[in-house]
Amino acid sequence: MARETIIAELPIPPKGRLSFPMLILRMIVNPVASWGEDFYGQPAVLYRWFGLQTLYVMDPALIQRILLDDAESYSKQPLNDDVFGEAIGGGLLNAEEDEWRWQRRLAAPLFRAEEMLSYVPAFVSVCAPLLKRWKESGAGGRQRIDRDMTRTTLQALQDTVLGAGLGDDDRRAIQEAGATFLFYSMWKVVLTSLRLPPTIPHPGARKMARAGKRLRETAEQVLAKRDGGSEDGDLLGRLVTARDPATGSAMPARLIVDNVVTFLMAGHETTSRALTWTLYLLALFPEWQERVREEVRRVAGGEETGRDDIGKLQLLDAVLEEAMRLYSPVPVLMRRTIAPVALDGIKLDKGATIIIPIYVVHRHKLLWEDPLKFDPSRFTPQAKAGRHRCAYMPFGAGPRNCIGATFAMLEGKAILATLLTHARFELPDGEAPVPFARITLRPKNGLTLKVTPL
Ligand code: HEM
Repeated sequence: MARETIIAELPIPPKGRLSFPMLILRMIVNPVASWGEDFYGQPAVLYRWFGLQTLYVMDPALIQRILLDDAESYSKQPLNDDVFGEAIGGGLLNAEEDEWRWQRRLAAPLFRAEEMLSYVPAFVSVCAPLLKRWKESGAGGRQRIDRDMTRTTLQALQDTVLGAGLGDDDRRAIQEAGATFLFYSMWKVVLTSLRLPPTIPHPGARKMARAGKRLRETAEQVLAKRDGGSEDGDLLGRLVTARDPATGSAMPARLIVDNVVTFLMAGHETTSRALTWTLYLLALFPEWQERVREEVRRVAGGEETGRDDIGKLQLLDAVLEEAMRLYSPVPVLMRRTIAPVALDGIKLDKGATIIIPIYVVHRHKLLWEDPLKFDPSRFTPQAKAGRHRCAYMPFGAGPRNCIGATFAMLEGKAILATLLTHARFELPDGEAPVPFARITLRPKNGLTLKVTPL
């Protein structure tokens, strides 16, 4: 095994199993530092504590039962509402049953593969201001990659599916309020895990409420500013002209705002994390960076990446997938049982909490050889074919999987191809980002890389 392709295991998992109260305490600090070493070798870990049942599930076969085969026995609620309700209300990420089906059908046409390919030039164009700024900083300039990726992905969303003219202030509001909202969200996760109401005062509760309100106000302004545009060609258009299949009535204004905030948050936070971690790994392993740059040059023939090139960038595809394995942008999924269930002999009552720590699944010793090795060859078509569908699931699985998965992969590849064509990335001495989960997985103190324009 080539030692130079092993990532640092940060934060180090606790030895032995933590008690439930300790686990909860560590979860507030950083969920990825709360799962003990044994989680990485067990199919599932059950905690029973004062009548509360919490099952951590790592076995892909069990995950398949929860998210696909028997999905109707599990709900995202009230967990999701408790944590995100203040910002995204009953939008697509939170909705259930008929409400969810209607909203999913409404948004689905925007995310068809053919539609997505037409966005490639827009994904390439959003890199221009960033590349210009990097060029002005000169060779080896230190850049805050995490912030740059957040700005770039928000712009990409705006210029493609959203159909909204966001001004600088809107974008700043979304980024700042979004970051604050997610930062304090762990307290709500803890309250709901303990079956306590989310309204109980907790550190940052007021800041979180203000941030949620700001996100909603920004969405309202964006809607008010919308000047015509195609009737149903973009997300805002589709929401405004939607009719409820059961009643024939228009989508309530509140639900439109719920969905605008949902897509604003779900549509850029996650992709920006994926890009940040990929650039970190490519800076850490320069030979891989060179191999991918070589592929991009060969496929695009020295031009900017076009829609027909994307499917040919197989090495880049594998690198992005491997980066999302090691640093899953969404590190945890949560569900609650809505009926008593038995999972491989584990009996759970109605109301038990199910936690699927994707981060652990992706580094599990029984599922991956040398889990901490950065090895994109795990994502050749042959390697993928032999793998359980729930052993690798950065976009979730089953009916509630990510509606934006194809969008995110195309966007990620187009942006990475453009950045790698025009810049080289190096890791400054001492830069060792620590994975830190606040709904999405980010480097705890951001990520600074040395960037040299090419
Ligand atoms: C690398 C980027 C992304 C990752 C890793 C990611 C991950 C996920 C995951 C894991 C879920 C399932 C949550 C659950 O089961 O509880 C999800 C759902 C969702 N994602 Fe993404 N996502 C990404 C990008 C996007 C983009 C670009 C959009 C929109 C433009 C988007 C919109 C959504 C929405 C609306 C849902 C809820 C779908 C439903 O419940 O029907 N995501 N995402």
